[in-house]
Amino acid sequence: MTENFYITTAISYPNGPPHIGHAYEAIAADVIARFQRLSGRNVRFQTGTDEHGLKMAQKAEELGVTPAQLANEMSAQFIAMCDSLNISYDRFIRTSEEDHHRASQAIWQAMVDKGDMYLDRYEGWYSVRDEAFYNEDELIEGVGSEGQSVKLSPQGTAVEWTAEESWFFRLSKYQDRLIALYTQNPSFIAPESRRNEVMKFVEGGLRDLSVSRTSFDWGVKVPGSPEHVMYVWVDALTNYLTGLGYPDPSDDMANYWPANVHLIGKDITRFHAVYWPAFLMSADIALPKQVFAHGFLLNKGEKMSKSAGNVVAPLQLAEDYGVDSLRYFLMREVIFGNDGSFSAETIVNIVNADLANSFGNLAQRTLSMLFKNCDGKLLWPLQQAEADIALESKIASACASELPQEFAAMRFSQGIEAWLRAVNACNQYVDEQAPWALKKTDPERMHVVLVTVYRCLRYLALAISPVVPASATHLLEQLGVATDQRNFAAFDDENWYANIAQSDYLVAKPVAIFPRQEVVQAKDNS
Ligand code: MSP
Repeated sequence: MTENFYITTAISYPNGPPHIGHAYEAIAADVIARFQRLSGRNVRFQTGTDEHGLKMAQKAEELGVTPAQLANEMSAQFIAMCDSLNISYDRFIRTSEEDHHRASQAIWQAMVDKGDMYLDRYEGWYSVRDEAFYNEDELIEGVGSEGQSVKLSPQGTAVEWTAEESWFFRLSKYQDRLIALYTQNPSFIAPESRRNEVMKFVEGGLRDLSVSRTSFDWGVKVPGSPEHVMYVWVDALTNYLTGLGYPDPSDDMANYWPANVHLIGKDITRFHAVYWPAFLMSADIALPKQVFAHGFLLNKGEKMSKSAGNVVAPLQLAEDYGVDSLRYFLMREVIFGNDGSFSAETIVNIVNADLANSFGNLAQRTLSMLFKNCDGKLLWPLQQAEADIALESKIASACASELPQEFAAMRFSQGIEAWLRAVNACNQYVDEQAPWALKKTDPERMHVVLVTVYRCLRYLALAISPVVPASATHLLEQLGVATDQRNFAAFDDENWYANIAQSDYLVAKPVAIFPRQEVVQAKDNS
């Protein structure tokens, strides 16, 4: 039976255009989704925008538009970003949508029915930037714009004293169950460093959570309390259920819930690993299998912010260097889970070295020689020498075993390294076998060597296709691999080559798949 796999990204605040951090998360989730599809799973992939809350309301006011207008304009840019970056989402959810309001009210009602909601007065610190409440002892001392001492959130954002009537969720009641969850299911939060942080936070004691606001009305109405809107994180987290049709029973709910992984950035771990499972426990809904928190992308080592003027527009990078180049760079260069730095120079260096020189050249020179010197024909039957068989088994093990194992464990850069070693082994083989020299001395042997590399290219292209889908597809087309053969199960099909070699397929004059890049000076954001 085919397994199902549900992956979600965080939904982004559309209070401004998307930046490279948003692109990074979408790309990583897409690599996972494509990898799982190649592995034979039925994948459901959701991303979207988180449109409510004070941050959106304040930004809209500042711009002189309504929050709905701001959300419409900006979410269109997030959708455009996903489409340009080849993100294969099934649903792009917007929390302003009607079905989402209904789902949020349903989970709210379930928490009320459990006896977990009560009305009280909230007094405490709130950061609009983070849309988060903080305890006094979590705050740090900072310096304000006029040199005065101010209180800041642990994320370094401004906090303001808030006092209003509010609904509360009995978070404290779930402390023991949460600790049991992290202990009994150690992979619920990954990576390990994030799990330790969350454990410490929860062990330190949980206070009940203020979950509604009355000072503004841009949000989901609280059932039975029309003057209250839900705290934005209550409705935001519920998006993961809305997309499957909650609260109505549906095939999607049955097939895809609980989610396999909520992919998020490390700054929002607490919401996903503490609040969300507690809400779900309260509403008697199964818990997601994993919350994976990736690291932050830094611009040449510096945190990006609008005030520092170093926010990078992802589409510009994709336009300058190509979508697949950007995707490859991000997955190869950043150890998944850690922070990573990027610059135009490193993108260009890595992409030129790995994709243009190593992989692209290998494909280009092999296919060119097959086209020119062998009339594009493959050999059948194929009689390989020991060196050919040894190379193939090395490539098969990297592409059908090492890379999939690493990717399944979210170790993308390690998986790509295994793949790159395979690419280099092929290049070394070509250099050693020197088919250009065999052309005169032993053309038949030349043909075997070229076909051996052709066969390796199919492994290499399939394995890397989640990372560079457009280029890999292009190469698989050049190799004549049928669409229904573009999956990992095809690695076990012993007849794949016989079928192509015995068909009327001919290698055509190849088109380079990875052009060399140069740093685009004028558009570099440095
Ligand atoms: N709206 C909330 C998430 C709600 S999920 C139920 C939010 N939005 S956000 O727009 O601020 O961030 C969206 C995602 O982008 C988060 O996972 C966040 O961690 C991630 N990133 C934001 N800046 C980032 C970098 N500089 N680098 C990598 N990821 C970053 O939080």
